[in-house]
Amino acid sequence: QTRTLVLGIETSCDETAAAVVENGQRVLSNVISSQVDVHRKFGGVVPEVASRRHVERITQIIQEALDRAGVTLDDLSAVAVTQGPGLVGALLIGVSAAKALSFARGLPLVPVHHIAGHIYASHLVEPLAFPLVALVVSGGHTELILMREHNRFERLGRTRDDAAGEAYDKVARLLHLPYPGGPEIDRLAKDGSDVLDFPRAWLEPDSFDFSFSGLKSAVINYLHNARQRGETVNPADVAASFQESVVEVLVEKAMRAVAHTGVKQLVLAGGVSANSRLREALGARCREAGITLRVPPLSLCTDNAAMIAAAGTYRFFDGQVGDLSLNAEPNLPL
Ligand code: KG4
Ligand code: ZN
Repeated sequence: QTRTLVLGIETSCDETAAAVVENGQRVLSNVISSQVDVHRKFGGVVPEVASRRHVERITQIIQEALDRAGVTLDDLSAVAVTQGPGLVGALLIGVSAAKALSFARGLPLVPVHHIAGHIYASHLVEPLAFPLVALVVSGGHTELILMREHNRFERLGRTRDDAAGEAYDKVARLLHLPYPGGPEIDRLAKDGSDVLDFPRAWLEPDSFDFSFSGLKSAVINYLHNARQRGETVNPADVAASFQESVVEVLVEKAMRAVAHTGVKQLVLAGGVSANSRLREALGARCREAGITLRVPPLSLCTDNAAMIAAAGTYRFFDGQVGDLSLNAEPNLPL
């Protein structure tokens, strides 16, 4: 039996990551260099800083991924890289590194969509069972995607403005919590309750799209008015009420998408799938509805290169390889 070894490279945002995956499923190494500490002092990711950091780290991270996997470049079958979406200056570093390796070693170059990567994170735990619906919720994305087979993605809905994680980060900032705000709000919400009655953006009755900017404005208005009236604000209640609004819409729309498509598998992916309330609420609804919910471990939910290698392996099997004209695409369509 042949062994397919794919090196994955991910630099779409603020993690410099490289990984080696065997046969699209077995993680031999998964190296991540996070820049969170660098961006924290700015309260968010600074694109220029991110790409400079990627340049400084990428070569070493790739070498570390190979070393930890116990392989050399000669053993690889292909190099997979996140082509987009993401910060263009950040994406370029990964794409350039992948092109260099591809050129120097004659390795097939496989461009991967970042969202496809997030969905394939689940495949590293247990093979994806089609058809499935994936709810991808991260700092940059909020998407509902139907997959009937490998490499085919049908978008059912997406956010029209802020991503769910972005909303978490922005509201956290309003509450003077450090970046990234998602885990902070998650923690703080446990000490509060949903008493503030923030809005839920359902949009059109049959829409699988999301919108979180109205909710963010509602939080801003609430804080502003409370300050004007000299009322004390309980940040834990703000966190809990905000979170309840986000989670309720995410869960309801995901369950509607599952019912609408008749699938029995729901895959949760992206950094926000770390959210304890989302896991709990979605878990309960899926049990009730007889839907299998798949949530990868946290280390695979947030940005990593193993998921890119996994998704890339199936594109490689499908012959969907690129050439040296490959460019980073900040708005790459799925
Ligand atoms: O997938 P990811 O690592 O990067 C992107 O592709 O964006 O997701 C990062 C996002 C951030 O917005 C972060 O605040 C959010 O995931 N996040 C959370 C939690 N942990 C991370 N949001 C809510 N609750 C959490 N526990
Ligand atoms: Zn991501």
